[in-house]
Amino acid sequence: MDVFRDAFDVIENNEIINPTLILRKHILQRSINCFRNLRCEILYPVKTNPEQFIIEHLLEEEIFSFDVASLGEIEKISRIAAEKNVSVKMYFMHPVKSRHAIREAYFKHNIRHFSLDSEYELEKILQETQNAKDLCLHVRVAIPNSFAEINLSEKFGINLHNTPSLLKKVKKVAQKTGVCFHAGSQCMHSDAYKMAIDMLSKIVNEISVDYFNVGGGFPSVYPGLKPQKMEEFFHVIHEGFLKLKNREKITFLAEPGRAIVAECMSLIVRIELRRDDFLYINDGTYGNLFDAGFPKFVFPMRLLRKDAASDSIPFQLYGPTCDSMDYMHGPFYLPSNAQEGDYIEIGQMGSYAKAMCTNFNGFETSKEIIHVQDEPIMSLY
Ligand SMILES: Cc1ncc(COP(=O)(O)O)c(C=O)c1O
Repeated sequence: MDVFRDAFDVIENNEIINPTLILRKHILQRSINCFRNLRCEILYPVKTNPEQFIIEHLLEEEIFSFDVASLGEIEKISRIAAEKNVSVKMYFMHPVKSRHAIREAYFKHNIRHFSLDSEYELEKILQETQNAKDLCLHVRVAIPNSFAEINLSEKFGINLHNTPSLLKKVKKVAQKTGVCFHAGSQCMHSDAYKMAIDMLSKIVNEISVDYFNVGGGFPSVYPGLKPQKMEEFFHVIHEGFLKLKNREKITFLAEPGRAIVAECMSLIVRIELRRDDFLYINDGTYGNLFDAGFPKFVFPMRLLRKDAASDSIPFQLYGPTCDSMDYMHGPFYLPSNAQEGDYIEIGQMGSYAKAMCTNFNGFETSKEIIHVQDEPIMSLY
């Protein structure tokens, strides 16, 4: 396998036809190492980046627990684990599952951990596992997502007021019980975790649990979105854990997705046309750049041109499909002489990029992932 110096080296020595992802393996290692300081069992959320090389790397780094949300993810992790001859632990953390998926998860894939946020889902899990006596059930609680760029408490999670009653019902039937929450994706401030742990500690100090899961939401860094340092998040979480009465008996879990994988990948795209301050590029919201469209993330970028102008100006982007919604508002700052034929490196493409890519209109991403050794355009670590 060839390893290149950086994205410049990649375009100089390869024929780049389609959008191409590049991987910085050392950066993945760096974020994983950082999360060891959280001192929680890390459940990697497969949805964030389900590529085989990411999963294999996590296994090499001894991350053996996975947050899975569908049968497709379960089957993928089972297959990779079998190929690598390692045993993994899967947590089925989607609060609304199909009956078929519950049956397959329990009976075929030996999954015992399930999340839920309603009595209805509890009944469903019990029915489909034939009232199994070895279930570990995690109650997903909706907490304020006020510090996050993407709210994940509107769709899922029981409200705090109704949590004790559901937790008591769960405790009657489950072998082990837990609580979990999600602070919202790209959560910018550790106060979100402080508030959530404070709120939940009042409940679990009355109704004891075996698992306490702080979920995902840990941020990456983007232009205009510079969060607190990761150590601050960890500090606040550890302080919060000290408020839990039975903490020696509790297993602490976390599900960092974006923060683990965002930085380790970039995407190389080409400008197909410049019209004033609009660049038409060969990837877009139906490809790897969904988050630049609807949630309007501004990704870090660099123009891969040696004679790039020293002044940068704001550009808006259009993707390659025929749909006008294939539009990215930005503003994306690039050298003022950016033109047709130039390549751009787009950073923080390790999370929710390829995972959400379609091939609408027949546009494709290169299958090959190219390895590079330099630093990412922006880093939180
Ligand atoms: C249950 C659950 N856990 C973890 C994650 C990962 O979140 P993030 O990438 O913000 O860390 C998600 C994302 O949707 C999720 O739904």
